[in-house]
Formats: sequence, structure tokens, C-alpha cells
Amino acid sequence: MWHGLLHHYRDSLPVTDDTPALTLNEGDTPFIRLENLSRDLDIDAYVKVEGANPTGSFKDRGMVMAMAKAIEDGSEAVICASTGNTSASAAAFAARANLRCIVVIPDGKIAEGKLAQAVMYGAEVFSIRGNFDQALEIVKEVAKEDGITLVNSLNPNRIEGQKTAAFEVCDALGKAPDYLSIPVGNAGNITAYWRGFKQYNEKHATGLPKMFGFEASGAAAITDDRIYEQPETVATAIRIGNPASWGPANTVVEESDGEIDKVTDEEIMKAYHLLAQKEGIFAEPASCASLAGTIKKLEQGKITKGSTVVHVLTGNGLKDPNTAIDTSELKPTVIENDLQAFRDALKGGHHE
Ligand code: F0G
Repeated sequence: MWHGLLHHYRDSLPVTDDTPALTLNEGDTPFIRLENLSRDLDIDAYVKVEGANPTGSFKDRGMVMAMAKAIEDGSEAVICASTGNTSASAAAFAARANLRCIVVIPDGKIAEGKLAQAVMYGAEVFSIRGNFDQALEIVKEVAKEDGITLVNSLNPNRIEGQKTAAFEVCDALGKAPDYLSIPVGNAGNITAYWRGFKQYNEKHATGLPKMFGFEASGAAAITDDRIYEQPETVATAIRIGNPASWGPANTVVEESDGEIDKVTDEEIMKAYHLLAQKEGIFAEPASCASLAGTIKKLEQGKITKGSTVVHVLTGNGLKDPNTAIDTSELKPTVIENDLQAFRDALKGGHHE
């Protein structure tokens, strides 16, 4: 039986005898080969389905570590700014750990499912008339007070927990892939994966991937080397104009001979529908920046045909039902409650 990350990766994490055995059985997520897209794109393509974590995103890996350390350090409350997933994860683990949880989100700019999670888990939710970057500035100040722990990815324990996904990728493939393709918002996760790949390589000689990170083109601070005062993208999870781990992300690119590039909302939406309709995998829009990026890099010849590419699908598609419904061409066909009407409608095909 799986007992979660702090148990399984104890030796590779900052776990001490005083660290509580907190878990929601996060980690050990599905690793799936993209059978149809591998053929269509002429690569060996895989996805790491982080939306299968207990609160539906990769944040649970870092949050269990950050929350356990907050308890160990005698914290009474945790605080975060969030585009939605961090707040959902913080709220869940805080509920389980009996800690007060304060979250600050950008008003009107988080997916509905994520808001549902934060309120269900009982967090104190503040919705600011501003964006994520501004929310982060505010919570950083409040977190200077005693007893309140910041659980954004600036908290080093978050990165430690999140690096475990790289271990699982290497275990699944038997080695590191040629390329890791990953969405970039604050750039905490790309930093975490790289640390994970390096540590696993030192222990198990699994090799190192080239790290390819993808921002949304309306929020492409690292790619364009400038702060976006007003970031905008359909992928609200990565609607970030001043990434917290900007510097570390550039180091990852240098060390791994990788790249951070941007993909348009159109490219993200195309990948979003491709994944669902060609592979049966429903990931939230931000996650699909990874596949959109791979397609772009293949066209540029920067990812070579025949290579192994792992895509990190950071969050579950169900978190953002509105984007799915609004951008899908297929709509339910409304018919009378009548067998003949149903038969007639079926003959017309589902596009009618
Ligand atoms: N994908 C999803 C689904 C996310 O929620 C995030 C970040 C990212 C990718 C980017 O990861 O920031 O480590 O580069 N979401 C944060 C949040 C900002 O508040 O939930 P990153």
C-alpha cells in the first residue's frame, strides 16, 4: 500500500523524527504513453498525470512537505497567494493538520472548481482586485509575522516535495527522458523537477533530460525577459507576470541545455482538445502548454523526431469546466423523450 511521499521518499526529503506523518496519499501518479500522438508526432510521448493527486494538481507533492514542516516548526497558520491550485492544496492539507489557512486569489480569475475546493476545505478566502503577482506581494508581508508560514513555492519545502515527481518519471521509464516538457508560471515546478532529476542521477545514474518550459504568450516574463504588469491568458493557472523562481529557472535552462519559450492561447487550446480527444486525458489548460510547446519545438526542429518526451500534466481538467464547455464544438443534442426521435437524431450523427 502507498503511504504518501513523506513515507516513501523519506531519505530524500527533509523529514526528521519530529516531522508529522502527514499525508493524503499524494504522489505515485499515473504515467501514460500517448499512443496516438506518439504516432502522429513521430516521438515517444508520455504524460505524468499530476491531476490524479488528491486535490487534483502537482501542488500536493510540495504542500504535504511544506505543511508537515510548518507543524513541526510550531506554526499556527499557513498563508498563500494562488491562481487556484496552491490554495486548493493548502486548504486541504491545513484542514487535515488542523491549521488555519488563509488564501488570497485574483478576483474572477481562478477556475471555478479550484474556488469550490478552497471553500469546501474551509480556508479563509480573500479575493483581491488585482492579479497573482500583487497577491503574492501582500502575503509575503503578512507571512513575516510569527506563527504564519508562507506555503507558496518560495517556501523551500515546496520544491523539495515537488522534486519527487522526477523520481517517479525515472522509475517509470527506467531512465530520464530525452526531454521534459513542462508549463511554467512561477517556475517553481521546473526548478523542482531539475533538482529531482539531478539527485536521482547521482544515486541511480538515470541520466538528465533537456528541460523545456513553456509560458503562456500573454504572461511570458522569462521568455521575453521583462515583467508583464498585466498578464493575460486562458490558462489562468499560469497567469503570472513576475515569476518568483525566475532566476532558478534560467539556471535550469543553462544547466540542462534546455529552453523556456512561450505558446499562444490558441496553441494551448489545440493541445487541450488533442489530449482529450486523441488520448482520453483531460488536463486543465495550463497543463497543456507542455504538449503545445512540444509541438512548437518539433516544428522548429529543436526536439528531434524519435526522441522520448515526457509532458507534465500539472492539473486536472475538471477543475475548469467552464473553459471546457465554452471551447468545445461538441454540444449535447437536445431531443424529445421519444425512441423514434432518438433514432432519427442518431442517424444525423452527433454534429447535427
Ligand atoms: N500548472 C498548473 C495547473 C498550475 O496551477 C501552476 C501554478 C503551474 C502549472 C505552474 O507551476 O508556478 O511552479 O511554474 N499554479 C500556482 C497556483 C501559481 O497558485 O496554483 P509553477
